[in-house]
Order: sequence, then structure tokens, then C-alpha cells
Amino acid sequence: MMKSSEIRSTFINYYKKNGHTHVPSSNLIPENDNTLLFANSGMVQFKNSFLGLEKRDYVRAVSSQKCIRAGGKHNDLDNVGFTARHHTFFEMLGNFSFGDYFKKDAIHYAWDVLTNEFQIPKDKLYVTCHISDDEAADIWHRQEGIPKDRIFRFDKDNFWRMGDIGPCGPCTEIFYDHGARAGKESDPFKGIAAGEDRYVEIWNQVFMQYDETSPGVLKPLPKPSVDTGMGFERLVAALQGQFSNYDTELFAPMLDVASKIAKLDYVTDPEVLRSQKDIFERVSAMRVLADHCRAVSFLLADGALPSNEGRGYVLRRIMRRAIRYGRKLSTQSSFLTPMSESLISHMSDFYPELSTRKNHILSTIKDEENRFLQTLDNGTGILQDEIKKLKSQNQKSVSGETLFKMYDTYG
Ligand code: SER
Repeated sequence: MMKSSEIRSTFINYYKKNGHTHVPSSNLIPENDNTLLFANSGMVQFKNSFLGLEKRDYVRAVSSQKCIRAGGKHNDLDNVGFTARHHTFFEMLGNFSFGDYFKKDAIHYAWDVLTNEFQIPKDKLYVTCHISDDEAADIWHRQEGIPKDRIFRFDKDNFWRMGDIGPCGPCTEIFYDHGARAGKESDPFKGIAAGEDRYVEIWNQVFMQYDETSPGVLKPLPKPSVDTGMGFERLVAALQGQFSNYDTELFAPMLDVASKIAKLDYVTDPEVLRSQKDIFERVSAMRVLADHCRAVSFLLADGALPSNEGRGYVLRRIMRRAIRYGRKLSTQSSFLTPMSESLISHMSDFYPELSTRKNHILSTIKDEENRFLQTLDNGTGILQDEIKKLKSQNQKSVSGETLFKMYDTYG
């Protein structure tokens, strides 16, 4: 089985071999860009190169970018923990062309790296193209030999934009079929259209052709470019034969810590998770913690601080969501700090900022945890008093005002 670190380096080395410069991930907080809360994809650090505003000394790049999707246009927060593959923090592998190669080479590289370097069987992959993009569909069919009945056409799902404004264009996506155990829908077109778990989008290649200067106004870019993004955790899941990203080696050490502290097993069998609600809830809580622990640790490493507005507020919401789910597992223990310690020891090789800022990360988590647990306890006490009072008055419901106060002030 290929280890995640090997998967990352195989991708980077493949593109280096093909003339790309390896550019390290940027900070999660975009520099000089108020249109975005966080880096939400690999292209963010190259935005001005796509717009023709910045010239770099390379025209091909490859990266593994730290991304956050919580708050803003691409926001996955509420799904996280309950699906097999949504995350607040994830890594995006990507290759980029700034006015250099376009559709033909981009498609060829993608197919070559997936089917030759990573040896993914071709019959596990499907592709999609924008309804207007006959050229891309033709390249997939004629150049790479993909049968027409494995190439599907969509409209909105095959057009990618970074934010409300900025570079954008039609895209072609690659889906991995996890097979019948992962979902009932055997028709891939229907499964992909419905977003069924069985068919997972692993890679999106955007043909950057426009600058959206205000919503709906598209101006052609000076040079058509390529922006690709592959969900690293999804690729690792496919290559490690796991249906859920959480069951890969990327999350295992943190889940192990959670399971030991809670003294509860972490269960992976999809059948058990489908049929036993209490186990599903327990496992989902552990997954929420593992996901959020990564987002929180990386955000703190990159200089965000919990606060009541903007980026700091998103960070605080993620931390508090994690702490609340931790409470569902055990009211006696805290999870985030030991889980973060485990993450730091497993991921610092590729992201040394984690070990450099270890003390800051752990102490900030501890402080926020203590403060929030105190708030939660105060809130619970106030709510219990209120319920006692209402019962003595023979009333059966708590007022909206009290509930709002509980949510707003007491987390
Ligand atoms: N920017 C595109 C995405 O995020 C491809 O990297 O899907």
C-alpha cells in the first residue's frame, strides 16, 4: 500500500519531471486579498499570474496547497464529520500552466499520472466536461481513448469560480468509482449527477479563460491557463482502498487518540455505520474532532487567532464545534489538545510550521477549550434553572428568547 507521503511526492515528482516548478503551499491566510477568507484551492496563490498582473520566472507549477473550506463561497462546515469526504481543512494537489500548455497536455498529464504512476484501473474512472466544451470531450475520447459513454456533460458543476469575482472557466472533472459497496446507484451518470457517495470527484481541471470582474460579467483572460486541483485525502482513500477519507492513514493517529480517551471503539464498517445510529453518531463525533483538529492546528500555525469576527470567528466556530462534539464522547476529558499533538508529530515533515509553532498551537487550543467549557457549563446551569422554573409553572416549552441566548451567549 502506498503511504500518503509517497503519494504526495509521486504527484509532485511527476510534474517536476514534466517541467513544472514545485512551489510550496502558501499560508492559509491569503496575502493582500480581501475577496477570500482563506486559501480555498491551489490556484489562490497564483491568482495574479492568471490575471496577467504578475509575471513569475516559471510558466508551469506544481503544489500541494493547504486549504480551508469553512465560511465564504466554498463552505463545507455543516457536512463535515457526517460524510465520507468533506473537510474543513484539506490538501489540494495541483498543476498549473500560466499561458503555457492548455487542454491537450493538461488532460494527458492527468490521465497519465492517475493510470500509469498511480496505476488506477481505467475502468474505475469517469470524466465530465462542460456542456459547451466539445474540445475537452474530444481530447478525452480521441487522444486518451476514453469511450464516449464514460464522458458526461454538465453545466454548473463543470464551471469553476474562485469566489464571487476573480478568475474562472469551464472545467473537466475525474471521478473514481468506489464500487457497489459504497452506494446503490449503478448508473454512473445518475450517480455523479446526484452526488452519490459511490462516485467521488477526485480531480478538477479548470481551463482558466475568464476574469469575472463583477458577478456575471466575464472578460477573457490575456492568456488561457490551466488550474487543476486534486483532493489529496480522496486520492489517498482511493489508493489505500478505503471508502472514507477518515479511514486512511492520514486520520488514523488522531482517531486513535480520540478512541483511547473516550474509551470507545472507532468503527469503520459502512454496514454497521448505516444500520446503528448510536455507533454512527459516536464515529461522526470522532471524525468531526479529527477534521477540526487539523483545521485548527494549521490555522493557528499560519497566524489566525480565535476572535469574534472575520477569520478569527470562523476559527473559533470550528474549535467550538469540535469541543461540543468532544463533549458528546466524554464530559470528563478534553480531546483537541492531545489530538493536535499527534497531528503535529505526524505532519511536520512536510509542513514544518506545525512543529515550529507547536507550543503556540497547543496553548491556544487549551485556553479556548477551558474558556468554552466554562461557558458551556454556565449555560447548562442557567438552562436547568429555567426548566425547573417553567416546570413549577406547569409550562412545557422554553421561550425562543432563552434558546437564542443559550445559542448566542453560551455556545
Ligand atoms: N480551483 C479548482 C478547484 O478548486 C481546481 O483546482 O476545484
